[in-house]
Amino acid sequence: MMIASFKSLHYLLGLFVSLNLLALTQEENQFIYHGFTGANLLLSENAKIHPNGLLELTNTSKRQIGRAFFPFPFQFNTSLFNNSRSLSFSTQFAFAMVPELPTLGGHGMAFTISPSVDFTGALATQYFGILNSTSNGLSSNHLLAVELDAVPSPDLKDINDNHVGIDVNSLISIESAPVTYFSEEENENKSLTLISGHVMHVWIDYDEVEKLLNVTVAPVTRTKPTLPLLSTTLDLSSVMLDSMYVGFSSSTGAVASSHYILGWSFNRGGQAQSLDVSKLPSLPTQRKSRKKPYLRILVPTITAIILLVAFSGAAYIIRRKKYEELREDWEQEYGPQRFSYKDLYKATTGFTDRKLLGSGGFGKVYRGVLPSSNMQVAIKKVSHDSKQGTKQFVTRTGRATTSSDVFAFGTFMLEMACGRKPLEREQSAEKMILVDWVLDSWKIGDILRTSDPRLEGNYEVEEMELVLKLGLLCSFSTPQARPSMRQIAQYLDGNASLPEMPLDGASIGLMPVSHEEPGDFNLSFHRSNDYSAHSFSSTDSILSCGR
Ligand SMILES: *[C@@H]1O[C@H](CO)[C@@H](O)[C@H](O)[C@H]1NC(C)=O
Ligand SMILES: *[C@@H]1O[C@H](CO)[C@@H](O)[C@H](O)[C@H]1NC(C)=O
Ligand SMILES: *[C@@H]1O[C@H](CO)[C@@H](O)[C@H](O)[C@H]1NC(C)=O
Ligand SMILES: *[C@@H]1O[C@H](CO)[C@@H](O)[C@H](O)[C@H]1NC(C)=O
Ligand SMILES: *[C@@H]1O[C@H](CO)[C@@H](O)[C@H](O)[C@H]1NC(C)=O
Ligand SMILES: *[C@@H]1O[C@H](CO)[C@@H](O)[C@H](O)[C@H]1NC(C)=O
Repeated sequence: MMIASFKSLHYLLGLFVSLNLLALTQEENQFIYHGFTGANLLLSENAKIHPNGLLELTNTSKRQIGRAFFPFPFQFNTSLFNNSRSLSFSTQFAFAMVPELPTLGGHGMAFTISPSVDFTGALATQYFGILNSTSNGLSSNHLLAVELDAVPSPDLKDINDNHVGIDVNSLISIESAPVTYFSEEENENKSLTLISGHVMHVWIDYDEVEKLLNVTVAPVTRTKPTLPLLSTTLDLSSVMLDSMYVGFSSSTGAVASSHYILGWSFNRGGQAQSLDVSKLPSLPTQRKSRKKPYLRILVPTITAIILLVAFSGAAYIIRRKKYEELREDWEQEYGPQRFSYKDLYKATTGFTDRKLLGSGGFGKVYRGVLPSSNMQVAIKKVSHDSKQGTKQFVTRTGRATTSSDVFAFGTFMLEMACGRKPLEREQSAEKMILVDWVLDSWKIGDILRTSDPRLEGNYEVEEMELVLKLGLLCSFSTPQARPSMRQIAQYLDGNASLPEMPLDGASIGLMPVSHEEPGDFNLSFHRSNDYSAHSFSSTDSILSCGR
């Protein structure tokens, strides 16, 4: 009797001890952070935690490293509980890369599992602060990384400037893919831009039994896509040591982004807990409203430009009264609507440089808000300083001026819709000349591929197609073939449908670039740092306007 009770007591005690141990281990096997306020992470180099909990790995200073690791290593091979899934793990995190310049940022970051947090000798730039050219590829590294890479490094065989890669002991990825996510509703893969400044969600899951490493990426607003971006067969048994640290390492190079982690959960052995997006800290406010969905203002802007093209010489007109009587045919259509110089002056805050969108042979174009209607407009001011501008204006025959404007305007539309310069030498031959690329894409029935990738498909398809096609139409090399401003307004308003257009390059293709003999009007755009607007300059120009 006595002996029996002792036995059961012993048994209970044993159970108690092992349950306690289990609970402890369970707790230590996982964590979740929504923001990192007070988190005891191992931060090194430039990493820091903002007061709101945002983890900043790097800022936009060049050639920096920033790391953040969970302070305790995880046991990846414990025989204590005879756990056959000892190498399995699951993690998810929310990150953002906010580039220094809208289209130039880097290098990226890597979720890293490593036997040590001592990365002495590791380099920034393409090595993400975890390896260097000597250590790259050594099996003694015992390193697993999932890189989010925004700069192509040929020496590391990077596929492009926007990819996810799985790295084992080496930053030459064993598998990589351009950043996309699978949208079930649309049954297609949608591309994402790492350096868009938008918050994205990453899931990394490894199952020891399946020997599969899955990586999935999506905008933070979405639930986990049903298909992973990468699903790679991988045996981690020779990579993982018994004790491994998990964390992030990030670097910048000649180009830089601020690299942020907003939330992170991890589980060694089971499913990582889901991040609650509503609990994530917010990113620092951008300097300017850079991320405005500018297509929404595109059509009003374009319409406003049309209205204002003839008035663009307002300043000129005011100085030279005799031109006040000059009226274009289309004015009849639109009635006697004129904007006073005073209003235009107010709209652009006195034609201040701050509102300058660009300048070219024809004059300067300003961004403004009409005081009467609060409408966002672009206002073109004929340049007196420019002999060309004046000459053109007093010729914008009138015909040549108007169709030249249509031409420039077509370029403007393509620029806005595609988010790039008319000529980008660094692009592949196929994409180098914007108008050719848009035309070719139209021919193969995929004109939308030319749309600004940073829009991530967030636009009205019809609207985007219209703007792209109209942009081409305005780019006909023969001025007579271009639509009139009145027609353009009708197309944009949906009051008329675009004419059938012969899709042969001869009629659309722009006059060849001639650097020795620039055309009447050379313009090129470059993306301004401050907002998604455009500047004109006479360098790098490709578009010579029809005479
Ligand atoms: C980035 O951080 C470093 C160190 O904290 C600081 O010296 C530097 O000024 C920062 N750079 C920018 C662009 O904020
Ligand atoms: C450990 O697991 C293996 C296979 O799952 C099993 O055969 C073995 O009996 C287990 N050992 C212990 C001590 O539970
Ligand atoms: C490369 O990194 C290793 C350690 O990761 C270090 O021992 C070595 O000195 C580094 N090499 C160079 C050239 O910095
Ligand atoms: C989407 O991407 C995944 C992974 O890269 C691929 O397996 C799948 O075939 C793609 N689906 C479509 C519809 O393109
Ligand atoms: C990885 O993805 C594949 C394909 O969707 C799936 O069958 C597998 O269960 C996934 N494994 C993990 C560990 O998520
Ligand atoms: C786990 O530990 C056992 C015993 O120490 C060892 O034989 C085995 O190779 C280890 N497995 C891994 C994946 O490290």
